[in-house]
Amino acid sequence: MTQDELKTLVGQAALRYVEAGSIVGVGTGSTVDKFIDALAASGIQIAGAVSSSLRSTERMQALGIPVLDAAEVDGLGVYIDGADEIDHAGHMIKGGGAALTREKIVADLAQRFVCIADASKLVDVLGKFPLPVEVIPMAAAQIVRRFAAIGGVATLRAGVVTDNGCQILDVTGLQIRDPLAFEADVNQWPGVLTVGVFARNRADVCLLGTAEGVKTLSFK
Ligand code: 5RP
Repeated sequence: MTQDELKTLVGQAALRYVEAGSIVGVGTGSTVDKFIDALAASGIQIAGAVSSSLRSTERMQALGIPVLDAAEVDGLGVYIDGADEIDHAGHMIKGGGAALTREKIVADLAQRFVCIADASKLVDVLGKFPLPVEVIPMAAAQIVRRFAAIGGVATLRAGVVTDNGCQILDVTGLQIRDPLAFEADVNQWPGVLTVGVFARNRADVCLLGTAEGVKTLSFK
């Protein structure tokens, strides 16, 4: 099966976590696009979706899925999103699509994070995928120096302005062995809006697309 077919498979599998009449948190990316398409085709009537990006909002609205403002809801049962990497405890690197800040906000509203990913995303240690970090532009150069001090090479993602008007640094050379401590530390650096390690908001479940079908990994 191709990677695209695996994404379709897990996008469809995520429907089993969607309850009719509920409000669903929706992430961003090519795997989530498959979920959105599957949801629209399923006929499951949800009360609405809280979206993590303009990209997902536009796709859902085009398919007739009502999108609600995050500020209008006081909680979500489930948040469904992809990942760039996920480890065996459900910690993730996210932000390849530059939506990490809103993804973390919507994930934080949800009782359950369901990650949908093809098997290539499962890793032993986070860090091979360049870590996205959303930064306030005036702090970017100092944050590049801070990463250099811990062995990371941070590069500005050219031509990208996030939905929040900020910039993305992509950091290579890291091996993130304690994701919870790393996330807490980097999040405190002045000018960091969001670091793309999702440890505090790790996945509860991962639907992993493999050649043998969808494997369900449960972490909590
Ligand atoms: C966007 C994300 C995505 O979930 C991540 O990049 C995975 O994307 P894809 O499903 O296209 O592989 O974090 O900010």
